[in-house]
Amino acid sequence: MSAPANEQSTGVFSPSRAQIAARTLRTDRWWLPPLVTAIGLGIFVVYAGTRSFVRSAYYVADYHYLTPFYSPCLSTSCVEGSSHFGTPLPDLPMIIPLAFVGLPFLLLFRLTCYYYRKAYYRAFWLSPPACAVAEPHAKYSGETRFPLIIQNAHRYLFYAAAIISIINTYDAIVAFHSPGGFGFGLGNVILLGNVILLWAYTLSCHSCRHITGGRLKHFSKHPVRYWIWTQVSKLNTRHMQLAWITLGTLMLTDFYIMLVASGTISDLRFIG
Ligand code: FES
Repeated sequence: MSAPANEQSTGVFSPSRAQIAARTLRTDRWWLPPLVTAIGLGIFVVYAGTRSFVRSAYYVADYHYLTPFYSPCLSTSCVEGSSHFGTPLPDLPMIIPLAFVGLPFLLLFRLTCYYYRKAYYRAFWLSPPACAVAEPHAKYSGETRFPLIIQNAHRYLFYAAAIISIINTYDAIVAFHSPGGFGFGLGNVILLGNVILLWAYTLSCHSCRHITGGRLKHFSKHPVRYWIWTQVSKLNTRHMQLAWITLGTLMLTDFYIMLVASGTISDLRFIG
């Protein structure tokens, strides 16, 4: 299919590209990755959205397990014991998630993430759906205008995400509890694994790489920053994988705590 006359200036139809009538010459299943991405992101959004609003089975009082979807829980609507940082906020109506203080920042951090941008631009906007496949849009302004220029806030959202990772770490530490004092069970393994992977995802952020090693003229004069930047850069090469893995561990952690909190299963206890 050739481009309409008014689409001549962008993408594979730009004047500098070979004048090929077909939208793509690719014969492989180029549509599969964007489809899988759309399904994967869709599952997470539906699951996380539903769980964040239901207000049930999010805290296991015996073991102090709190799902990350309800952390920090700062309202008097939170079940007793789940507010690890007190309850400075009054009762909240059902339309407001109990973790509304942190959730928007987490959501925006992921929404503006360089990897997720690529993923959802391709999967949902088809802009473009794959390399060397023409996109359906007639115009392309990139991220130079409102609203996409807001994506630049990602570097600031990194700091918010780091604070929330600290909160999640605290939640994982206070969960080493049993009615008799110290305790340790499968829930701890899941909470701990989740928080380690959340840190790995957060620290592998491109903004973190810039914060640690950017704007330096001579690495040799900043050996500590250079070392940190080197470690962050190694993590950064796994950023896409960590982005997906942490979506999975967040759902797994929440799902496990939901099952234990609702009495559907018992936590497998190793100590206490
Ligand atoms: Fe993905 Fe920063 S680039 S979290």
